[in-house]
Amino acid sequence: MPEDVIALITSDHREMERALELMKKDKSTRPLLLPLSLAMLAAHSRAEEQHVYPVVAKEAGEKDQAHHGIEEHLQAEELGRRLLPLDPESPDFDSALEEFAAAVLHHAHEEEQEILPALREAVDSERLTELGKAFAAKRAEELTGAGSGSHDRRSSGGNGGNGGKSKAELYEEARELGVEGRSAMDKEQLAEQVEQARRQT
Ligand SMILES: [Fe+2]
Repeated sequence: MPEDVIALITSDHREMERALELMKKDKSTRPLLLPLSLAMLAAHSRAEEQHVYPVVAKEAGEKDQAHHGIEEHLQAEELGRRLLPLDPESPDFDSALEEFAAAVLHHAHEEEQEILPALREAVDSERLTELGKAFAAKRAEELTGAGSGSHDRRSSGGNGGNGGKSKAELYEEARELGVEGRSAMDKEQLAEQVEQARRQT
């Protein structure tokens, strides 16, 4: 039976929490579970940003919550990436892992308390199942490397241009550069505004 999007998102959160707990308790799991967790978090986030948040913003009238959710995804992903160069046996890894786990848990909690109930109120169960299918397809595409986000992430060399960057990355740059109205922009607009803002700095 196809699952609705709320059940899928909630179960992803539980899986993520389980991986984080395992990494905290057993250092030997870290070299494998860290990249897996980062891939899962990114795929889950891109799928939500594409198929869930736009509905939350438009149909549930929770635009601010949706934007806040995107910012929290980016923050959590950034905290997670900071773990990659660290020695998994080191105390630095322990404390960075605590920070990463706290960000993920905070976001999952907020989503389950505020965003998902608003979505459930706004759309019927048939729609929730349709959104579940779209969410699962995008998540799989990202996890298998077929998604644009994962390609972009791998190929972004940070050499100044915007070529090959994902929307999430451009959004983060726009946030750092203080580009106004960024939350309403599509990928092309974000790229353009980021480029312009960079030229002015
Ligand atoms: Fe989320």
